[in-house]
Amino acid sequence: MERTLMIVKPDAVEKNVVGDIIRRVEEQGFKVVELRMLRQTRKQAGKFYEVHKERPFYNDLVDFMTSGPCVPMALEREDAVTKLREVIGATNPEEAAEGTIRHAHGSNIQNNAVHGSDSHENAQVEIAHYFG
Ligand code: RTP
Ligand code: MG
Repeated sequence: MERTLMIVKPDAVEKNVVGDIIRRVEEQGFKVVELRMLRQTRKQAGKFYEVHKERPFYNDLVDFMTSGPCVPMALEREDAVTKLREVIGATNPEEAAEGTIRHAHGSNIQNNAVHGSDSHENAQVEIAHYFG
């Protein structure tokens, strides 16, 4: 069993699809083991996406992630990190495969409905960021 972090981003909370997104991951065998709703400060969001600090989209990304409440959750399953990235789909919703969460609910490359950890190590750091 492995744990990964998913965040329902502010765009998806605004669209009222939190329940649909949780249903999709539960249907794929994930168990929700931690969950909360919060509106992040710029400091929290900036730190979370620190790896992208030098990227041109960093400031817009922090604006977006602090624009409203989000719903981080820890999810447990066998091979959770890899499997969640499959269920989420490509970063750009236009390139995300049919049946993926971003295909269903993403609006554009930034407002793409969900975050998923990209490695086992980052998942542990990210779960600690929200749940200690
Ligand atoms: P995430 O970390 O949120 O799961 O997304 P990801 O791995 O698929 O993509 P990543 O490269 O880590 O980018 C993080 C988030 O930054 C926003 N983004 N905007 N304007 C742009 O070109 C751009 N590129 C990325 C997205 O919200 C992306 O999920
Ligand atoms: Mg990423």
